[in-house]
Amino acid sequence: MATSRGLAQPEGYATGDMAPEEFRRHGHRLVDWIADYLAHPERLPVLAQVTPGQLKAALPDAAPETGEDFDGVLDDWERLVLPGVTHWNHPGFFAYFAITGSGPGILGEMLSQALNVNAMLWRTGPAATELEEVVMGWLRKMMGLPEQFFGVVMDTASVSSLCAIAAAREALDLGLREEGMAGGPRLRLYTSEQAHSSIEKAAIVLGIGQQGVRKIPADSQFRMDPAALAAAVRQDRAGGWLPFCAVATVGTTSTTSVDPVPAIAEVCAAEKMWLHVDAAYAGAAAVLPELRHILAGCERADSLVMNPHKWLFTPFDFSALYCRHPETLRAAFSLVPEYLRTPEDARARNFMDYGVQLGRRFRALKFWFVLRYFGQKGLRDRLRHHILLAQQFAACVDQHPDFERLAPAPFSVVCFRARPAGIAPDHARLDAFNSALLEAVNASGRVFLSHTKLGGKFTIRLAVGNLRTTEEHVRTAWDLLWSQAAALAPRFF
Ligand SMILES: Cc1ncc(COP(=O)(O)O)c(C=O)c1O
Repeated sequence: MATSRGLAQPEGYATGDMAPEEFRRHGHRLVDWIADYLAHPERLPVLAQVTPGQLKAALPDAAPETGEDFDGVLDDWERLVLPGVTHWNHPGFFAYFAITGSGPGILGEMLSQALNVNAMLWRTGPAATELEEVVMGWLRKMMGLPEQFFGVVMDTASVSSLCAIAAAREALDLGLREEGMAGGPRLRLYTSEQAHSSIEKAAIVLGIGQQGVRKIPADSQFRMDPAALAAAVRQDRAGGWLPFCAVATVGTTSTTSVDPVPAIAEVCAAEKMWLHVDAAYAGAAAVLPELRHILAGCERADSLVMNPHKWLFTPFDFSALYCRHPETLRAAFSLVPEYLRTPEDARARNFMDYGVQLGRRFRALKFWFVLRYFGQKGLRDRLRHHILLAQQFAACVDQHPDFERLAPAPFSVVCFRARPAGIAPDHARLDAFNSALLEAVNASGRVFLSHTKLGGKFTIRLAVGNLRTTEEHVRTAWDLLWSQAAALAPRFF
């Protein structure tokens, strides 16, 4: 068929897109595949058993010139792509912070992709904007945060913290937004030596520079030392720096330690510094009344981030940024060209004004589904179960003469290493032994753990966070660890 301008229109397509019946057929095939996958994710190895470059070598180096039959594409996905997937939904996934793409969350994600809403302005996504306000209010209440905390959804904690630190810089009111950082005062940001690398990365992006980040020592339990913070700020002021922001962590990445936020808030108040709290992982635990105390002092924070995509069963990505001063966050980012002005500007929230991105996904939908499907009690029960599993694993470590724990385990992460009883403490050898142990256990394909370094020691981490993880999976991890340690020890000692 030819259009009025003589251009060819693809044969057989009424809309230019996949025909509705074809979409329905492939959609049913995919939903069936997903349902089976979620029923038995452990039928696949948790850690992809592939080598770098394997998938690239199996695929053509250019896109097809003409469209292909979609059944064939789906066959190739299963045959070629699936083997290269590391399964974050596997119940034996204990690495980094284990997460879950839950059923209601996956359905919400599917629906938001179908709508393809860009929630940059209220007008371009009224429901997306208002649902975002609603779920951020619900989450704020669940965590016991102050009512005046304004919430905005970002993709990741890295970006949330970047925006929070940009607001902290804007709060100085030095015209840095207009004039840039060159020739201005030397800004100093404080965080603990255990803080996530995203804080330093934000400082790089914002022109504060790595030298503008002062890492405060942590105590024996990996918590920031507030006296050292106060001393560092005094010393920096005397040295010509302008201290402007401290970032405390509730649930550090390596050990899940909790910085003493009340004492850090005192220092920030006395020194007129912005307090940002990174509660990306452990903030979820504050929905438990018995753990609400972990956010003590956070009511004095200027901003706080927590990630429902970490430990609230929301598919990646969804990060919740709260800010006590929405107008400051807005002042840091809002820049409205004529083509983005709307008649509702004075009456409605345009979320593009509160961050770097213009285009914004409809993330609130999947989180709304998650909160409604599980309910607050359902979420609490599941978090408690994860903490219990981690405590059971910690007890196994504590009771075994050839293992030792290297940090407290206040949530669902356990840090430990194998240390065969009676051997001389040769740190390099112990590090190599534990590194080999981790590789051997991960090569099983049944569990996946990751590592960190604590006090210079190679440390294995086990993180519970997947909904499908049971006592049996934790037991499998433990059995693999002690049996592999026993098998490997003669090669090292
Ligand atoms: C404490 C903490 N903050 C920030 C991040 C970064 O998270 P995201 O991947 O959402 O940027 C992590 C990631 O594990 C983290 O543990």
